[in-house]
Amino acid sequence: MYGIPQHRIGKESDMQKILDCISAEMQSAFEKAGYDGALGRVTVSNRPDLCEYQCNGAMAGAKQYHKAPLMIAQDVAAALTDSTIFSEVSAVAPGFLNLKVKESFLADYLNQMAAADRFGMELEKGNKKVVIDYGGPNVAKPLHVGHLRSAIIGESIKRILRYAGDEVIGDIHMGDWGLQMGLVIYELSLRQPDLVYFDENYTGEYPEEAPFTISELEEIYPTASGKSKEDPAYKEKAMEATFKLQSGVPGYRALWQHMMKVSVADLKRNYDNLDVHFDLWRGESDVQDMIPGMVQYMKDGGFAYYSDGALVVDVKEETDTKEVPPCMILKSDGASLYNTTDLATISERMEEFNPDQLVYLTDKRQNLYFEQVFRCARKTKLVEADTDLVHIGFGTMNGTDGKPYKTRSGGVPRLESLIAEINEEMLRKIKENAASKGYDIDEKEAEETAKIVGLAAIKYGDLSNQASKDYIFDLDRFTSFEGDTGPYILYTIVRIKSILAKYASKKTAGELQAADLQSEAAQAVLSGLKVSEAKSTGEKELMMQVARFGTMMEAAYEECAPHRVCAYIYDLSNAFNGFYHDTKILTEEDDTKQASWIALLKLVKEILETCIQVLGFEAPDRM
Ligand code: ARG
Repeated sequence: MYGIPQHRIGKESDMQKILDCISAEMQSAFEKAGYDGALGRVTVSNRPDLCEYQCNGAMAGAKQYHKAPLMIAQDVAAALTDSTIFSEVSAVAPGFLNLKVKESFLADYLNQMAAADRFGMELEKGNKKVVIDYGGPNVAKPLHVGHLRSAIIGESIKRILRYAGDEVIGDIHMGDWGLQMGLVIYELSLRQPDLVYFDENYTGEYPEEAPFTISELEEIYPTASGKSKEDPAYKEKAMEATFKLQSGVPGYRALWQHMMKVSVADLKRNYDNLDVHFDLWRGESDVQDMIPGMVQYMKDGGFAYYSDGALVVDVKEETDTKEVPPCMILKSDGASLYNTTDLATISERMEEFNPDQLVYLTDKRQNLYFEQVFRCARKTKLVEADTDLVHIGFGTMNGTDGKPYKTRSGGVPRLESLIAEINEEMLRKIKENAASKGYDIDEKEAEETAKIVGLAAIKYGDLSNQASKDYIFDLDRFTSFEGDTGPYILYTIVRIKSILAKYASKKTAGELQAADLQSEAAQAVLSGLKVSEAKSTGEKELMMQVARFGTMMEAAYEECAPHRVCAYIYDLSNAFNGFYHDTKILTEEDDTKQASWIALLKLVKEILETCIQVLGFEAPDRM
């Protein structure tokens, strides 16, 4: 229901990561030469000018075997003369083994990747059940750029985990129960005191239609919030309204339902535009009924005690180097807090899904907060001993001035205006590009394309940074077709698509158009082709990048790190563009050679498409 892990239905693959294949070969050479096989670990070369891979095991073995490392290295090299994997093994002082792989080995490896499920990524990796809590918008408050990162990073992590085979449930966890609701209700009661919702004696049905639209709602909240900051009496009233809502006054509940409906519809539209999709649309309100029971349980278990009137659970640990304050469960007036709700939600998620892992995406300013909540959940045994609780705290999105981002108009940086700004700039660049290439693009197609590419620009700009770091939102750089950007990656994919389409068209005597790449006829032409041995360094470099896919994806999975996927597709795109620059693919007269390049391009395209899919965006047919 929430995306069945593919490996439970798909075919199994027994491919190893390329580095593991190479290490295994090296290990058996160490053994053959009479040394401990464990010394044969191979790494990617840190001197790419000298070799592709290297092994430093001979140095590590010198002590154990009372032998000069260079001699050990020479023995191992001698044991590798017939290797089907290495084309070059050189023992160099003081005892390095510098390695190059055979073109034939690489070609075989790529052909296996092309035929395997998920390009041979090791399938036993992902098999856990995860609940991921991301997005976290607040109902009745406009979505702002702060929520953008949570949505973008969370969506990508969800997709990476799913790709690896985990069962993942994404929950938006809306802020739908706090003071912001009371503020709106109170302000509304001043503006429209005659509404039935405020009539305590009213017993009839409440109207179906909400007494406000989303734009009114979005205006009411900031107004009310501003007033409450200036006027303590106003705030007092808003808190009273919040309390009445929470204690179930029917008119207030009915208004709350309206706010939810209007807000959620708007949120859905916004997240759809971002290609962000949640399995669960739950919020803070959903677990309120569980709080009294949970509080009782924490008291009964001796975990929670009263301190200055508030109910708290101690969560400090001996090894703490910073002060970790107690986790407050109830305020002295008996009200619950943000963390009370989070703890109740943990308890609900455990009961309902029994996940192996809970992942949260918020601003890193909530780091300490989640530390407290997680410790409290562990101490009070709301989770099992081995339940993995992970908070991924991300940095701030700054403007080019290094300060938290503001839109050009300088107004409140709303998500929608940010997207509009990107799309506008993208549209300009797409038209400019079309004009410079001398092809016509109609306004509608240009706008559609700008939307697709604009989303890639925003998402790649965000995801290519390590999440915990602040980053600079630079409209001009993010939308550029060159450099480490989303549009550059898409441009590369579009270029490959166009070559493949032209090739397919030629092979079917011109019957196929560029747009027919997905057609059966095109697939028939393109499938079944095999990659063969690289004939140039550029081609080999491209093939080496392709072969890294499994290693990279596994690291991205283990570290919940979309930036690894970005770094990889940037390298892969560069390698492709280098190869493309040096190779006349479509005019090549040797059919076999050409067919093998086409097979390679097809694989590169599929890998790039898979990667952008897990990042949460897609490529247009042309741009
Ligand atoms: N609504 C919160 C905010 O705007 C984020 C919620 C994050 N999730 C959670 N389980 N606390 O800051």
